[in-house]
Amino acid sequence: MQLRQALNAVVDRLTTARVPSPRMNAELLIMFTLGCDRAYLYAHPERELTAGELQRYDEARARRATGVPAQYITGHQEFWGLDFIVSPAVLIPRPETEHVVEAVLELAKADGRGRPSLHDLRIVDVGTGSGAIALALAKELPSAEIHATDISPEALEVARANAARHELTSRIEFHLADLLGGFHPSAPNAGAPGTPGLPPASFDIVVSNPPYVGDSEEESVQLEVRKFEPRNAVFAGPTGLEVIERLIPQAREALGPWGWLVFEISGTIADQVRSLLASWNEVEIRNDLQGIARVAIARKTARG
Ligand SMILES: C[S@@+](CC[C@H](N)C(=O)[O-])C[C@H]1O[C@@H](n2cnc3c(N)ncnc32)[C@H](O)[C@@H]1O
Repeated sequence: MQLRQALNAVVDRLTTARVPSPRMNAELLIMFTLGCDRAYLYAHPERELTAGELQRYDEARARRATGVPAQYITGHQEFWGLDFIVSPAVLIPRPETEHVVEAVLELAKADGRGRPSLHDLRIVDVGTGSGAIALALAKELPSAEIHATDISPEALEVARANAARHELTSRIEFHLADLLGGFHPSAPNAGAPGTPGLPPASFDIVVSNPPYVGDSEEESVQLEVRKFEPRNAVFAGPTGLEVIERLIPQAREALGPWGWLVFEISGTIADQVRSLLASWNEVEIRNDLQGIARVAIARKTARG
């Protein structure tokens, strides 16, 4: 069978299975099967597929039709122009999270404390997952010291693999930690040998895309997300605020004077997040391209 025919047949079958964007998915899966790019698909529509290629394409199609996200089948997702390995241990990085990276870069570059350079900026990405935010920042801020935490050892393995692929291993320190546990001074073993202890109040920026969906919103979350993405990456607890409520005071302790906290939110929790940040300075909630509240920004005062 020719490439074009195989592709069209898969588009039809994905359409019948009600998979969203069936052509895009069919193209992604054939690019994965053949190890080629989109230009090749358009340049060689008459290329005959071997029996083995047809079988692998059909297997990928069948998995996609059961709802497995294409990114978990191909093992890849692009974020901030970088190719990330993804597995079911990590959330698939989303384009809207690029707004979080943009906000951090803006603050880092403005560096409102009158410092002569960005050389000593110390940043921590809390709940790094695939490493999306930490790697994007490491790439953009070559002199910053970057740390990344996650509670999932499997996620950290993926993040480390991504750092290695992009030659950023020496730029990011990964820590298995509950949020900033071990970083802030009230942690019982902060600084003890073998724990990720850093001096308290030592970060310039705490950034995070934390889990923020409430159990009560479960029905409104896409079935593919509910069924296949890690639950502890998406759901925070009954209200959706449970992780953010813990992150805010921990960030306050971890940040130095005038440090910034930047994290992703959803429109559903924007008002509550604003209340939780009532005692912070320069609080701002930014919208994404759809006009939905997406990024919370707040600054610690000199006194803390
Ligand atoms: C929404 S995902 C974000 C992943 C990645 N930063 C991104 O933007 O694509 C949230 C991440 O936080 C991690 N996580 C959840 N609870 C955590 C906790 N208490 N401490 C540290 N990480 C946590 C999850 O394992 C998951 O990797």
